[in-house]
Amino acid sequence: MTMVRSEAIGDVLLITIDNPPINASSRGVRQGVSDALVRLAADVSLRAAVVIGAGATFIAGADLHEFGQPPREPSLPDVLAAIEACAKPVVAALHGAALGGGFELALACDARIALAGSVVGLPEVTLGVLPGAGGTQRLPRRVGLARAIQMVGSGERIKAEAAHALRLVDEVVAGDLQANAVALARRLEGKRRISEERVPAEEAAVVEQAAQSALRAGRQRPAVVAAIEAVKDAARLPFSEGVARERAEFLRLRDTIEAQALRHQFFAEREAVRLPAHLLGRTQAALRPVQTVAIIGGGTMGAGIAIAALEAGLVVVLLEQDDTALARGRDRVADHYRGRVTAGKLKATVAAAHEARLHPTTDWAQLARADLVIEAVYEELGIKQDVFRKIDAHARPGAVLATNTSYLDVDAIAAATTRPQDVLGLHFFSPANVMKLLEVVRGEKSAPDVLATGMALGKLLRKTPVLCGNAFGFIGNRIYNAYRRQCEFMLEDGAWPEEVDQALQAFGFAMGPFAVADLSGLDIAWRMRKAQAATRDPRERYVAILDQLCELGRLGRKTGAGYYRYVEGRPEKTTDATVRGIIEKASAQRGVVRRALPAREIQRRALLAMVNESALLLSDGVAARAADIDVVLVQGYGFPRWEGGPVFWARQQDRAGLEQELHGLAAISGHGFRPAELTQLLTA
Ligand code: 3HC
Ligand code: NAI
Repeated sequence: MTMVRSEAIGDVLLITIDNPPINASSRGVRQGVSDALVRLAADVSLRAAVVIGAGATFIAGADLHEFGQPPREPSLPDVLAAIEACAKPVVAALHGAALGGGFELALACDARIALAGSVVGLPEVTLGVLPGAGGTQRLPRRVGLARAIQMVGSGERIKAEAAHALRLVDEVVAGDLQANAVALARRLEGKRRISEERVPAEEAAVVEQAAQSALRAGRQRPAVVAAIEAVKDAARLPFSEGVARERAEFLRLRDTIEAQALRHQFFAEREAVRLPAHLLGRTQAALRPVQTVAIIGGGTMGAGIAIAALEAGLVVVLLEQDDTALARGRDRVADHYRGRVTAGKLKATVAAAHEARLHPTTDWAQLARADLVIEAVYEELGIKQDVFRKIDAHARPGAVLATNTSYLDVDAIAAATTRPQDVLGLHFFSPANVMKLLEVVRGEKSAPDVLATGMALGKLLRKTPVLCGNAFGFIGNRIYNAYRRQCEFMLEDGAWPEEVDQALQAFGFAMGPFAVADLSGLDIAWRMRKAQAATRDPRERYVAILDQLCELGRLGRKTGAGYYRYVEGRPEKTTDATVRGIIEKASAQRGVVRRALPAREIQRRALLAMVNESALLLSDGVAARAADIDVVLVQGYGFPRWEGGPVFWARQQDRAGLEQELHGLAAISGHGFRPAELTQLLTA
């Protein structure tokens, strides 16, 4: 099938890219555009051309499936060079997204016209590469080095209107894009090559400041470093040398493990939203429609979920147990919108429209309005079961019933209703209106269309939904618990909390586990440990340091101290004598002679604990696909995206070495550590 059509509209050649779903600049597109340019040059009846996308978008980037393969001719830079070399003007007509190679192609044209609301940008660094077709050389010739560094270094996507203000787009139109583009092509006199323009003069200090802040925000990743250098080249090298250097860097980075890891995440996130075939049944098309959502509990989570639902255009019934709690819940939502409006992030009229769809109530009969109910009350089975009995009494037949429980058994909650087939878990993360991850928990009796509706709701709320089995901690908390436990073992074995935190931050976690524990509050884990005390196997290796901190009232940041002390909200760099005393005593009680743990050992033990638990989750069927685990850890737990996730990381290691290290980890971890068989994880 041809990916590019060209037809003459009078004296203008319309070149239409038709390569669904995103009109990627695949080989067929590159060849098709090259051929069309030959026709444009040869046909004396043609004076200009327009490049436009069929379907929902312009070219949204290079074809990422081609990245693992040897480069094939013609390359995108060849095509762009042909556009510039052609004596007749070429106009790019943008709608949807003109990203990466698509935007680079547009910048090589003589003019750009965009449909209002479309987006442009060079997001390559988010995929571990830099623009590979002149983006770093043409962009600064229009916007200056500092702004170009900001855009390319972050992968920022901007609206056509903003691009117009930056002179990246010549015209923004609301109506018929094609007709307007053809008219513009007819008006153009001669070529207007950006490559022949000069980079505007700027103060070196301004450029350096932009570079430093892009490096900081981009965590000094190799692609960001290379992208910034390439943009700077635009001012210090002739255009042809700048593009040659850029291309060489692009080809070098494209094959790195880091770029592979980022592509793995990109595709894994898109795969995760699809229910595995064996669960779809025959219900593929039969999603249950959701327009009104009822949320029970307007606390931290309930209010956040309400905001996410309002922002997706849904009607929200917010139910609380009494008027005081209801007022608190309503205020949480109102405060959020007030803050967004004050910060200039949201128009007051839009905020008001969202809030108008919120219906706070204490009347359970209001549940009858809902297509989907989400329970977010206290984390106690008895309370949740009571609430589900009431939901069962009031919700309409066919409504989807969800619990936001973090750890409780979804089947035990469903059993409180007469319709367990309608029940599932929707595990949001805090803050629920910000965090992308949503674990969709499959109860034993959850119907396929209920699961499919849960996944669809996740997408509607702009989240990444991941399907999980109903097992303690689902995917994320179960892996995180295994990781945190291993980190606690390391405290007893000789490391201080700050050494563990620093080593894991150096690996790339946003925060170390003890800093995270202080931030979320140690009392949550303490309460759970107390609840589990009666059933805990006494032979299990148990580290009581956290319990002892809690007994001293050190519940974390909110009490001014946890693992760390906080002075004016900032943690002290090292742990204090009290904490060290508790840790040393714990080591002595375990009979351990404390020794310094090198950063690499800390990192590997923590990662191996995650890998082991990931393999168990796969073999237990809690995770349906290995890549789902990577999505959960990266999206919800601060695992460095550029490492791809624990499964991707494990697949980069030598297998025999990994297995040997796991044996060692099992010996250190003692009773209760279940060593996993790695075949499924490493090959699935
Ligand atoms: N290559 C191959 N497939 C791609 C792709 C790409 N660049 N971008 C998206 N797709 C696929 C997705 O995998 C998905 O496939 P599926 O339906 O089989 O799962 C399908 O296209 C639709 O994608 P989304 O689910 O993301 O659709 P949305 O409508 O939500 O978003 C989008 C569309 C804004 C274009 C979004 O897909 C996106 O941001 N894509 C990445 C854009 C990008 O990063 N481009 C730069 C690539 S690097 C480059 O251009 C190098 C150059 O400098 C040489
Ligand atoms: P919260 O204590 O902030 O809010 C709970 C709300 O439920 C309170 O406002 C309370 O008045 C209300 N409530 C209690 N009983 C009720 C009843 N019978 N009827 C109506 N409303 C009732 O708790 P939070 O943090 O929002 O947690 C809620 C649920 O979300 C828990 O199951 C928790 O495990 C889960 N969760 C919490 C996360 C977090 O980080 N806080 C993350 C993910 C899940």
